[in-house]
Amino acid sequence: SKSYNITLLPGDGIGPEVISVAKNALQLVASIEGFEVAFEEMPMGGAALDAIGVPLPAETLNSAKKSDATLLGAIGGYKWDKNEKHLKPETGLLQLREGLQVFANLRPATVLPQLVDASTLKKEVAEGVDLMVVRELTGGIYFGKPRGFSTNENGQEIGFNTEVYAAYEIDRIARIAFETARKRRGKLCSVDKANVLEASMLWRKIVTALASEYPDVELSHMYVDNAAMQLVRNPKQHMMTQSSMELILETIIMQFDTIVTNNIFGDILSDEASMITGSIGMLPSASLGAAGPGLFEPIHGSAPDIAGQDKANPLATMLSAAMLLKYGLGEEKAAQRIEAAVLDTLNRGFRTGDIHSAGHKLVGCKEMGEEVLKSIDSKTPAA
Ligand code: NAD
Ligand code: IPM
Ligand code: MN
Repeated sequence: SKSYNITLLPGDGIGPEVISVAKNALQLVASIEGFEVAFEEMPMGGAALDAIGVPLPAETLNSAKKSDATLLGAIGGYKWDKNEKHLKPETGLLQLREGLQVFANLRPATVLPQLVDASTLKKEVAEGVDLMVVRELTGGIYFGKPRGFSTNENGQEIGFNTEVYAAYEIDRIARIAFETARKRRGKLCSVDKANVLEASMLWRKIVTALASEYPDVELSHMYVDNAAMQLVRNPKQHMMTQSSMELILETIIMQFDTIVTNNIFGDILSDEASMITGSIGMLPSASLGAAGPGLFEPIHGSAPDIAGQDKANPLATMLSAAMLLKYGLGEEKAAQRIEAAVLDTLNRGFRTGDIHSAGHKLVGCKEMGEEVLKSIDSKTPAA
């Protein structure tokens, strides 16, 4: 039977807690769908710094490169925060993304009906929101040169970074975004700061030039400050219309469907979008390149404030495992099994602290994971 190699990078903080739960889910759906998964667990981030002295050991990158897909928990923590740049856990994560050339980071934010009351936004605002942030992941200010520390003419210390995008980098992420929008509701909003930044001016020019190749996609542009505001003001729009039979019909028009943006704006806007859905503990991501294996990770970090307490929400990582099955391995049915099981578990009332509300069963990370496994066992999603 088919067999896949999956690199697991538990990392730091809540990373190992959420990865152990997602690993069990991958194993179970594989056995149901009749394929094999072989896991290789490798050190990454602070864990790798402690064990080996670097945040991304060569063996870890090699494992990720030769496997069929990589699932990462999270990296980082207080212990390494004051490390020099090249010895930070976060630097290892950037090296991993660059090493795998995964320039396209898909971050879906969907408000599940089960979690509408977990959102900090009013029900009318949050309900039905379903958007996809396409974040450029291997360029921009995260990687731009020159960068560093220096001293200015007054003897003041300075730190500096460069926001830089080459035309090909914008072109390839924009194409992914247009294609993503085409498969969704056909609306693409490109978010930039073209009123101020040259890199954004080029971004807008190149995205605009591509629009004629995607006549079925409605393209709009928005400045990032306004986008941040619109996301919480009105991620969707209600329109009341009156039918001929004097019935009031409510049409929901999504202000946002697919958003494409640069590395740093995508980082910030996706955390913001996560809160519409109720919790950052719910949002998965897929990082894909032109060829080669993908990297799959929840959008949240190592959550040092709750690490080691069995409080983490493992569903973002479960859903990242589902994205791994779908985008990384092409095992769509196995992916659907995990997604269906997550919904079923929420329907059965289980909630971790971050998404808990009155009338639900408060559980920890492990128990949530076990309940999802039970749902996988008992549910056969429609073909
Ligand atoms: P964070 O995402 O780790 O945590 C922000 C808040 O959200 C915290 O209150 C945390 O408890 C909560 N939270 C996050 N994930 C949760 C989950 N699954 N369930 C319940 N609550 C959850 O962001 P931060 O505190 O800014 O960063 C902490 C560390 O993580 C830093 O070292 C940072 O660099 C790193 N980080 C790593 C990644 C990654 O590995 N991809 C992403 C973001 C931040
Ligand atoms: C994320 C994180 C990372 C990023 C950090 C930890 C380097 O915030 O994955 O969203 O900024 O990309
Ligand atoms: Mn982030």
